[in-house]
Amino acid sequence: MTILDGKALAQRIQGELTEQSAAFFAATGLKPCLATVLVGADPASAVYVRSKRRACARLGFESRHHELGPETSQQELEALIDALNADDGVHGILVQLPLPKALDADAIIDRLDPAKDVDGFHPTNVGLLALKKPRFVSCTPAGVMRLLEESGIDPQGKRATVVGRSAIVGLPAALLLTHAHATVRITHSRTPREDLEAAVREAEILVVAVGRPGFVPGEWVRPGAVVIDVGINRLAPEPGQERGRLVGDVDFDGAVEHAGAITPVPGGVGPMTITMLMHNTLEAARQRVG
Ligand code: GUN
Repeated sequence: MTILDGKALAQRIQGELTEQSAAFFAATGLKPCLATVLVGADPASAVYVRSKRRACARLGFESRHHELGPETSQQELEALIDALNADDGVHGILVQLPLPKALDADAIIDRLDPAKDVDGFHPTNVGLLALKKPRFVSCTPAGVMRLLEESGIDPQGKRATVVGRSAIVGLPAALLLTHAHATVRITHSRTPREDLEAAVREAEILVVAVGRPGFVPGEWVRPGAVVIDVGINRLAPEPGQERGRLVGDVDFDGAVEHAGAITPVPGGVGPMTITMLMHNTLEAARQRVG
């Protein structure tokens, strides 16, 4: 049984990206530049944005941060996006989601210059991925594929089941696995439980991204399967604890009894997501400079 150590892999790839950003600077006099946009006061979003900005600093990227209040209007946010699109010094733009409910997130994503959409959320980038001509791929599924590749796991000819159908994780993960020649089943929170169980039991590669702790019982995991747990769920604190534990969507203790390889939570997919954001930002900078 192998624990797929996303944290260690992310550190190695970030080391390579640090060298590549230094080489980019030596060749162009420019640092890859990521603009981060945080609207409102969601504490989890603030934590995510801070860790993305720290990654920029660590890798020798420039980060320009824009923080807007919870009452920001659609027009104000659109004006900021327009300004960042027009700014030649900005290579990638990241609008942290979720946005406050009063704002239309789809309209904001549509407004991004697809060439700066390092999250891979813009319809143009989603469409290019669907057509097997990927430019910027959503960072979490891209990180999942890189983790498989670097772990010597080839999806070709394998039965893969994806649990979750979000535009950001489940659907692009299913597309990427299909492009890698796996035979892919997509299931989700409304798949009847017995169908879900059957699909999980047949999976040689299982990717779970539904955001519900323990959604997949460990005993469903096929012997020898590769289990990629994308969920990051914080449990209620136990007595005497200040904060609850972080757990994935798969019952980890049960799954390790059957899996051939499994990602831990934390320290599995999470660190790979930020790494792929940095990868996409460097790529955006290279494409802009030509
Ligand atoms: N919110 C949760 N995950 C993400 C992500 O990958 N990108 C952005 N922009 N917002 C998120």
